Amino acid sequence: MSHKLLDLYPKILSQSEKNLDLSKFNALALPVTPGDKVELVKSRLLYEITEFTKLNLNIELANWPDFSAKPGEIIEVPISVGSLSRIYLVGIGDEGFDDLRKASSALGRKFKSTNSKVLVNLTNQKELIISSTVALVLSNYQYSLKSEQKSDKPSFTIYGNFEQEVERADVLASAVWKARDLVHTPSNIKNPDWLAKQAASMVSNAKNSDLSISVKSGRAIKDFGGLLAVGNSSPTPGPRLIQVSYAPKGSSNWPHVVLVGKGITFDTGGVSLKRPYESMIGMKSDMAGAAAVLCATVALAKTKPKVRVTTLLMAAENALSGTSQRPSDVIKHFGGTTVEVINTDAEGRLVLADGLAYADSELDPDYLIDLATLTGAATLGLGRQYAAMYTRNTIVAKKLSEAGNRVGDRVWQMPLVDDYSVALASDVADFNHTADKFDFSAGSVTAALFLEKFVGDRTWVHLDIAGTGRSEVDSGENIKGGTGYGVRLLIEWLDSF
Ligand code: BES
Ligand code: MN
Ligand code: ZN
Repeated sequence: MSHKLLDLYPKILSQSEKNLDLSKFNALALPVTPGDKVELVKSRLLYEITEFTKLNLNIELANWPDFSAKPGEIIEVPISVGSLSRIYLVGIGDEGFDDLRKASSALGRKFKSTNSKVLVNLTNQKELIISSTVALVLSNYQYSLKSEQKSDKPSFTIYGNFEQEVERADVLASAVWKARDLVHTPSNIKNPDWLAKQAASMVSNAKNSDLSISVKSGRAIKDFGGLLAVGNSSPTPGPRLIQVSYAPKGSSNWPHVVLVGKGITFDTGGVSLKRPYESMIGMKSDMAGAAAVLCATVALAKTKPKVRVTTLLMAAENALSGTSQRPSDVIKHFGGTTVEVINTDAEGRLVLADGLAYADSELDPDYLIDLATLTGAATLGLGRQYAAMYTRNTIVAKKLSEAGNRVGDRVWQMPLVDDYSVALASDVADFNHTADKFDFSAGSVTAALFLEKFVGDRTWVHLDIAGTGRSEVDSGENIKGGTGYGVRLLIEWLDSF
């Protein structure tokens, strides 16, 4: 059975101040700033719109005394001049990155499933255009396999001389969009082999020799004990190691970043079946880390950073079957470390351990970064707005945190508490994988400490995206479901090399 996903990605265009033809649009959006006197930001555009419509928008604004221009607060002014039917007066708060994203998302949402042509002017600050345009597009995201669907989609024209910024926003937004598609795909469609094929078609569609892909399965991954122990629970088609590289000509001396993504295409928990059972429903998202690193890497062919990137998708299904691993099994990871399996629902760290050890011993990374929907504990600690970041390198931590604040994929650094390491002891193997000794709690921290055992002396960052990878509500630029978290963060950070 093949399912067809409609392409609902909006059009984004830019429009310079010159040659503006207002009669081409159905809707216009203008910024309003808060303060003692809430008013429209004075601009040439405002002047032209006033000429065109013969409407004094500040008088319209005065009709709404409760409007305080909070970010995302919107007044909809109906009008009928040619094809123009609406003017949106949009509160932009303090005009920072966050507030503009909120304003853009609220505006973008208004046009979901319409074919409106919208001229958007919410800011004239170059550095804000990219992240707010991305939010405008992403708030339109939809995933539907309904047999009948509307194919209408809006076009957003960004006002101002921001051609390059709008182009970059398009690259970022379409990469996040693709990651969301992968995450939203139900697990009766997506399995490790499907993910490998998606990755291969993304690489080939990019038509760019800087990108390449190789997929390993069967005997080629016989040393990846964690990937096999988890993935063999679902014999057809079995686990895959998907390796995507961004390596432009002449890049061999550039810094080398290895990205590792958790690619569990469904997480039942295995024999340690997830409870309550309802908590399983979101688990098609358990490959959100793999989706993020994949989509970010493929986008590099367009953003062209001066860094070499090798990306590993650790793809497996954690199923409940006769070939599932058992609690108390001892497995041998890539490189020889042995691990006692305690709870088969802690499968993510098992597949990641192989990826990290493989990267350390075979790929010589300068930076080793993993993204994983790893622990419920990360969500308990930080909620859904910040990913839990673990690293010993304060410089990278700062860079990632700043990049995240700019683009809207925020991270919060958490401590690798060495005192808790003793929890990983095992009577029969090098480590136990759930840190079950001594009852320290801190599930996200101890998971990170486990992963650290496999990274050698590399500069390593672990992002636990269990909270951020999925949204439970429509909010900001997210809809309920996969968020595509990490794509913007990685592209932005890699661009700083
Ligand atoms: N995929 C889950 C973590 C998760 C939970 C992601 C909720 C997104 C939302 C992971 O494989 C898992 O089951 N972790 C366990 C670990 C525990 C058994 C040590 C957890 O967090 O409960
Ligand atoms: Mn699990
Ligand atoms: Zn999982």
